[in-house]
Amino acid sequence: MILYQYPKSENLKDESPITIRPLRKEDEKILHEYFLRLPPEDRMCLRDDVTDPKVIENWIYNLDYDVVLPLVALDIDHIVANGTLQFDPVGWTKHQGEIRITCDPEYRKKGLATILIENLMQIAADFGLEQLTAELAPALDEAYFLFEKLGFQEVAVLKDFIKDLKENYQDLVLMVKNISP
Ligand SMILES: CC(C)(COP(=O)(O)OP(=O)(O)OC[C@H]1O[C@@H](n2cnc3c(N)ncnc32)[C@H](O)[C@@H]1OP(=O)(O)O)[C@@H](O)C(=O)NCCC(=O)NCCS
Repeated sequence: MILYQYPKSENLKDESPITIRPLRKEDEKILHEYFLRLPPEDRMCLRDDVTDPKVIENWIYNLDYDVVLPLVALDIDHIVANGTLQFDPVGWTKHQGEIRITCDPEYRKKGLATILIENLMQIAADFGLEQLTAELAPALDEAYFLFEKLGFQEVAVLKDFIKDLKENYQDLVLMVKNISP
């Protein structure tokens, strides 16, 4: 089982070391602190209001790597990025996993999200998934280029499908990568 290789040490582009590992029960406080450091517009791509301590408490309480695998990057003792692989073992999307990723603004453009997504892709392949998806708003240029660099392709745009912080309708961009052998 691939999860046994964690925690894992990786180096960012500036050679600074970080640790990658699945989220643990004891991470509740540092995960909440991490989300509070994210700009509100960056939290919009997440499904829950992660500034609410009860939401994090619930995530941690219901931690189940067979449904959502949250991978965190740590600089010593604080979380600096969070990536999740979400999947559904039954139903017609059971071959798919959805990736969501956020990174601490202080740690961006150092290859951190690339490292986390590459780890999530290896885990997804090990879990037997065949396709990965990412859902983006058009304003998230950096995320678009990042997923494109990693082999994801834009397959659909859902017009006026989501609402931004100012309650304006925006398109939702769906990106997909096939990972079946
Ligand atoms: C998107 C996000 C996770 C990127 O994190 P990061 O750690 O800075 O990303 P990395 O340093 O690994 O990679 C950035 C890549 O984006 C691409 N990129 C970024 N800006 C780009 C631009 N203007 N033109 C072309 N490529 C660009 C590059 O490919 C770059 O990789 P490279 O430097 O190796 O060429 C981060 O900006 C973030 O948290 N944004 C807010 C949340 C979000 O948009 N999440 C995605 C929705 S699921």
